[in-house]
Amino acid sequence: MKKAGLITGGALKAAGNAIHEGMSTYDLDRVIHDYIVSHGAKPSFLHYSGYPASACISVNDTVIHGIPSKSEKLKKGDIVSIDVGAYIDGYHGDSAKTFAVGEISPEAQALMDSTEQSLYAAIEAVRPGARIGDISHIVQEYNESRGFSVVRQYVGHGVGRDLHEDPEVPNFGRAGHGPRLVPGMVIAIEPMINQGGAQVKVLPDGWTVKTVDGKLSAHFEHTVAVTADGPVILTLAE
Ligand code: MF3
Ligand code: CO
Repeated sequence: MKKAGLITGGALKAAGNAIHEGMSTYDLDRVIHDYIVSHGAKPSFLHYSGYPASACISVNDTVIHGIPSKSEKLKKGDIVSIDVGAYIDGYHGDSAKTFAVGEISPEAQALMDSTEQSLYAAIEAVRPGARIGDISHIVQEYNESRGFSVVRQYVGHGVGRDLHEDPEVPNFGRAGHGPRLVPGMVIAIEPMINQGGAQVKVLPDGWTVKTVDGKLSAHFEHTVAVTADGPVILTLAE
């Protein structure tokens, strides 16, 4: 899973390096696809439940599952969430990050910072004996105390031989509740945090998830292994 994680993290980094004003989300998807394939892996999302691309690219008020498109061009001030998975030697990696296109508003930056920091705060709580609810509670509390809201309809998950495995890892919940973490488990923790209300809707394409109020959303995700010594983030780039 280290191998899958490194390729996943590398693909996300390559995407971040390639992002520029005027670039289409389709071309960004090509960068990710080519990185994964040239490293001997397969894009985990391509054809998953019929998904048509290698990455999910979600701009501004798109929360998750944005489908890359030639007509969607990145503009200065956009925030763009990129979600990537790579499969190699029988295992998946899964990671996401929200990037800024040029200079962005302080409000957009605050949303991105809160979402990212809540992910790292949650990862710090990963250890044998901790509960899934401990993670959920940390993410919820971190973001809600800063005035942001937590998406309820989509959650993190176990990851391994399949992209989505038990247990579910919600971004809201009660400390001390839920399944206990044990060494050897690997989970994808993935806060999806809205600037305005928590409500989301799925577009008629069956994939694209947007905020109902049209405000911004951010998404950060890492694949994290539980070990006796604590968390190991598998999806950092080399
Ligand atoms: N990356 C998503 C997750 O974090 C899943 C993507 S759905 C797919 O769980 F269809 F695009 F693969
Ligand atoms: Co995931």
